[in-house]
Amino acid sequence: MKLIPTLPVDKRVDFGKGVNSLKVEIDAALQELISKLSVQPVSKVKAELFDVTLPGKPPFVGKKHPLTQTIDDIKEVFASLGFDVAYGPEVELEYYNFEALNIPADHPSRTDFDTFYIKDDVLLRSQTSTVQIRIMEKQKPPVRIIAPGRVYRPDTVDARHSFMFHQVEGLLVDEGVSFADLKGVLYQFIKAYFGQNVQMRLRPSFFPFTEPSAEVDISCSICDGKGCSVCSYSGWVEILGAGMVDPNVFKAVHYDAEKYTGFAFGMGVERITMLKYGINDIRLFYENDLRFLSQF
Ligand code: DAH
Repeated sequence: MKLIPTLPVDKRVDFGKGVNSLKVEIDAALQELISKLSVQPVSKVKAELFDVTLPGKPPFVGKKHPLTQTIDDIKEVFASLGFDVAYGPEVELEYYNFEALNIPADHPSRTDFDTFYIKDDVLLRSQTSTVQIRIMEKQKPPVRIIAPGRVYRPDTVDARHSFMFHQVEGLLVDEGVSFADLKGVLYQFIKAYFGQNVQMRLRPSFFPFTEPSAEVDISCSICDGKGCSVCSYSGWVEILGAGMVDPNVFKAVHYDAEKYTGFAFGMGVERITMLKYGINDIRLFYENDLRFLSQF
């Protein structure tokens, strides 16, 4: 357009028209471009700047508490051996916690040093053995159950004790059940839960509700039986109590002790979880600290 005044007069009109129509065309094209650019949403511009090669943010996925996982594992092993799962109340009558289990009135575990009493004859169960009685009262043999649940004892809390912990009880009653059956079932469980290399041994013991009774040890899973602080350098750790159901227990539930025999066992869930994973403080289970819980 600046050139127009410099041109000879007879050329100026044509040249001016040409330049003007070019200007109109360019203006229109520019307008179109500008309007296209200005409707671009900011987010789209940002999206184009987003680096898709960066690692993603994993969503937080919750999972079961390690004790729940252990109880599930135990249920699975015993389900494969034909055991049903049974439950009983945590607030329990003294009768089910002691009397029916052949635990005499003067037994030290019945004092309020060892049991949380709510009233004279009502307490927080101190063992899941209560479920043995509740099931046998309702059901005729054969009986084949495990009973997981919480139990309560007025122990001072430290690395190995808690006022509340979990047990899994087992009970099998039928005709012709022997101590060998008990040993076979426990053997299968221990191999399935702790692994094929773990050894098992039974030591004679005493429980009022079983006769004979045994305490069951496994070779220390922390040191492979070589000896460490967890097994007090013995290479063995106790994991459960067991035995043949005492005839007095059968009497309490009106089972014919001449016809039926059975075995029972009880294990601490915290204890076997600690042994399996090398956990050195029971309190870790109850603190709800995700740094601990997320490791399982
Ligand atoms: N109830 C026992 C305890 O809490 C454990 C136990 C021992 C359960 C022997 C049983 C058994 O069924 O036969 O220490």
